[in-house]
Amino acid sequence: MPDLYPLARKFLFSLDAERAHYLTLDGMSLAHRLGTLSALTGCSPASSEKSVKVMGLDFPNRVGLAAGLDKGGTAVNALGAVGFGHVEIGTVTPRPQPGNDKPRLFRLIEHEAIINRMGFNNPGTDGMLENLKSSTTTGKPFHGVLGINIGKNFDTPNEQANDDYLKAFSAVYGAADYVTANLSSPNTKGLRDLQSAQTCESLIQTLQERRKELIDQHEGKYVPLVIKIAPDLDKEAIESLAEVFSRTEIDGVITTNTTISREAVAGHRLADEAGGLSGAPLTTASTEVVATLRAAMDAGVPIIAAGGIMTAADGQAKLDAGAELVQIYTGLVYRGPQLVADLAKL
Ligand SMILES: Cc1cc2nc3c(=O)[nH]c(=O)nc-3n(C[C@H](O)[C@H](O)[C@H](O)COP(=O)(O)O)c2cc1C
Repeated sequence: MPDLYPLARKFLFSLDAERAHYLTLDGMSLAHRLGTLSALTGCSPASSEKSVKVMGLDFPNRVGLAAGLDKGGTAVNALGAVGFGHVEIGTVTPRPQPGNDKPRLFRLIEHEAIINRMGFNNPGTDGMLENLKSSTTTGKPFHGVLGINIGKNFDTPNEQANDDYLKAFSAVYGAADYVTANLSSPNTKGLRDLQSAQTCESLIQTLQERRKELIDQHEGKYVPLVIKIAPDLDKEAIESLAEVFSRTEIDGVITTNTTISREAVAGHRLADEAGGLSGAPLTTASTEVVATLRAAMDAGVPIIAAGGIMTAADGQAKLDAGAELVQIYTGLVYRGPQLVADLAKL
């Protein structure tokens, strides 16, 4: 079956990036409902040949969808149908919010990169849970792992950030297989300050305390807690965090979010757009964070690697650096669903 994605990409790249994004998600959901998604993408849902147990959960393969593509949880089954072993929806905040003004999404095609300053546009936890009900009951169900990524509202001061994470954690707990606390988006003012070792430890402990109650409220269901960090941390900061992650026995760490660095795309006409840069320019920096963290952190804490995985070899490099699972976003935009199939073989 020929790969139709290059053709689809030509059309999608002729549109405004955000419009193309929603058109793709809606189109995928529709095709999934009509039962034609597999025929169109040439992909199929994950089989369990490459299944792996991480954080106590059974992942059908090592590749997942990174947060941000399906912020509102509208297309989980359709995304599962292209072969992802796990899908991470969100970032979702306690209250709905519109995000930043448009335009806020830019393709740097020459670099196979994206700059985004979406700013957590999302329907809030209640809206997301509603969407999830309908998106997971249409078409063939997703049998992989569902992660829900949570954040704070843009107008919640950092001093009250823990309250937002607590609210969101409690709200999504019942629906999630794991929950990621996103401390690393560059598009919510001050969010990345929550990555200081002391603040991060306080947040982890607060959520772990709440989890004890949530386990009781949810008939003994244990939901792993994952922290997502930025690629722009120096070695010392990564090592301090590694100590916190080991001490608190966090269930997992996602490395990395987008970067604020523009070194790799300097001179590009869109390089000075504010926001986070993702895709090929991030590959090496992000792998280095995986390796540094792996060397410094308790071996029992798994790493989920994201950042510039554009080929199966990039995915393998992340696993070689010490990750257990990988996630993609920008690679999917540039390379299409064939990349999912390739990474599912790792
Ligand atoms: C348009 C866009 C929106 C994103 N939104 C989120 C988000 O809401 N929450 C989050 O944790 N990461 C978000 N990310 C970061 C991705 O999940 C991922 O960590 C990052 O892009 C690096 O992976 P990639 O190079 O494969 O894209 C977003 C990325 C992009 C490109």
